[in-house]
Amino acid sequence: MLTGAGVSAESGLPTFREAQTGLWAQYDPEELATPQAFRRNPRLVWEWYAWRRQLAAAAQPNPAHVALAALAQRVPECTLITQNVDGLHTRAGSVNPIELHGNLSRVKCFDDGRVVEHWQATADPPPRCPDCGGMLRPDVVWFGELLPRTALDAAIAAAQACDVFLSIGTSGLVEPAAALPRIALQCGATVVLINLDVPTRATPPLYAINAKAGELLPALVDAVWPTPDSIG
Ligand code: OAD
Repeated sequence: MLTGAGVSAESGLPTFREAQTGLWAQYDPEELATPQAFRRNPRLVWEWYAWRRQLAAAAQPNPAHVALAALAQRVPECTLITQNVDGLHTRAGSVNPIELHGNLSRVKCFDDGRVVEHWQATADPPPRCPDCGGMLRPDVVWFGELLPRTALDAAIAAAQACDVFLSIGTSGLVEPAAALPRIALQCGATVVLINLDVPTRATPPLYAINAKAGELLPALVDAVWPTPDSIG
């Protein structure tokens, strides 16, 4: 399964590309989500991510997150790959999701990339690395940066090996995550896209369902992978 910002939309977190409400409709990624932007204006970038960190911390997992955590309990093998950095899958009970784009709750040193566990907020952000004094930055992937290699390799291996690949709440416009459903299709999996951009279609092996994840997934998971409790 691959998830994107649409899975957290019903938790009140903005997506990126939706007209009007998407983050990239309101903010310029060139000013906020690149290493160059951070070099130019580290305070602005730090504060924008601090705002998003607060939004994520205040949000609650929604029925889509809960259904995906339940699904993992019902099938013998299930890999959850997410582009989201909000940590809501883990808070809903998913174990070790593959976080392709990092996690807002972690910070790392801008100079050497090492994750820093303990750091102090300062009046003049960004705070500094306790080891080397370099600037701290969020541990998320910015435009122009490579994805964490181990996470990407694990995601590709899961896409190659799966029988069913669910792609949920993502526009599928950002590589390399966008390649994962294609890889799954090429390797013989049934692929199901669920978001608000797709016309519903059922032409095996590719299915598309235009629906809100939080409304569809609990019913879908119960229908396809029922437990004794959920039948009837
Ligand atoms: P996008 O904003 O590009 O796409 C969000 C998708 O979610 C769209 O296809 C919507 O139709 C769908 N959607 C919205 N609400 C939904 C709901 N309630 N249920 C189901 N689907 C819903 O977000 P992503 O595809 O996640 O990268 O964006 C990918 C990456 O681009 C992000 O991880 C981020 C961004 O730049 C980085 O920051 C590195």
